[in-house]
Amino acid sequence: MKITLASASPRRAKILASLGVDFETRPADCAETSIPDDPEGTVGRNALAKAACVPGRNVLAADTIVWMDGRIYGKPRDLDEAGKFLGELSGRTHIVFTGVAFNGRLKVEKSRVTVRRLDPAAIEEYVSSVRPVDRAGAYDIDESGSKIVERYRGSYENIMGLPLEPLAEWGIVDSRPVGFFDSGWGGLSILKEFWRTCPGEDTLYLADRKNCPYGNRGADEILRISRENTGILLERGAKAVVVACNTATAAAIETLRREYPSVPFIGVEPAVKPAVSDSKTGVVGVIATAGTLGGGHYSRTKGRYASGAKIVASVADGFVGIVESKDRDDILDGTVEWTASDRAAVREVIAPMLDAGCDTIVLGCTHFPHLAPLIEAECGERAKIVDPSRAVALQIARVIEKNGLSADLARPPVRMFMES
Ligand code: DGL
Repeated sequence: MKITLASASPRRAKILASLGVDFETRPADCAETSIPDDPEGTVGRNALAKAACVPGRNVLAADTIVWMDGRIYGKPRDLDEAGKFLGELSGRTHIVFTGVAFNGRLKVEKSRVTVRRLDPAAIEEYVSSVRPVDRAGAYDIDESGSKIVERYRGSYENIMGLPLEPLAEWGIVDSRPVGFFDSGWGGLSILKEFWRTCPGEDTLYLADRKNCPYGNRGADEILRISRENTGILLERGAKAVVVACNTATAAAIETLRREYPSVPFIGVEPAVKPAVSDSKTGVVGVIATAGTLGGGHYSRTKGRYASGAKIVASVADGFVGIVESKDRDDILDGTVEWTASDRAAVREVIAPMLDAGCDTIVLGCTHFPHLAPLIEAECGERAKIVDPSRAVALQIARVIEKNGLSADLARPPVRMFMES
């Protein structure tokens, strides 16, 4: 498919070129509007307007603004204004909004950027050498970005004005991601490890938040939900499905493997075996949902590997809700601010396990590794936690390799998210 990029931005063209997209450039000559108090509406409307002012089909357009203190920073008019913008952004965090439009469809992405503390001499030097007047907010995270940007979260491409996610969703970039699903943010613990293990793979993560929590639902219902999630991931091109949830693995993975014999499935279950072999006291704690602890999978694993050890199992009510109340990007970045009541909830579950003599505690729900800092603080020297995320990530890598599905992308990976 030949694309027309309705933009004069060299950064956007550079991103499309790096993705191997066949495109030509046609600057969109239309007036940009700014809707006060509505950054999302602003970039959305501008992206659609830019796409509409270039004739033909398959016109891709985007609009980016910087948003801080209730104010929109677009492109500066001249170098003086660029210097002024940077003075205002200096030492502070702002949000970059980008709207992308294609054949009448629209998506808006946002990312957070923290700018270094910049003195007037640094601003002067930057503005005169980079001449950043074609960029909302007047900075660049490309060649000279490190002079200005202290840190950012989310995708580099979004901040540069063209997020990859909509491009994959709309078929502009071919993508066969590894698909993941969980009831919410839990499976991010596996996703994060997978990014580390296979940084060149596209991923698509489905957070099935409308059905969260899974933990207390019956196995039949979890199977129905898992079939639905699998269908969504496959429809979006997933080449393998990671059931990034202990509860759903227990209730559904065997059926899913039977029903989709050509799709590799990878699941997760409580790591009882390594915990039992690591334990010195022979008392092992397992925290998981009621669905996992009541399922056949777990009782088989326990029967096979835990004979001779004493297992203290707990449903850890409330842990899933704590994780779900946090921000997805904070979880991915490990920057969640935990509250006193989060700590108290963790103590209530962990203290009795320590009192029962557990020296190893298995995190049998994918939500729980996110709480590891709190659980470890509670355990101190008394117990170690066993988190299977890394082992699962390695297993995904092995399975896709064995099936000849490993990606060899000559482009940046696309990391997509969906929420039900
Ligand atoms: N994260 C899931 C698990 O590993 C399920 C949590 C829930 O929704 O109850 O079991």
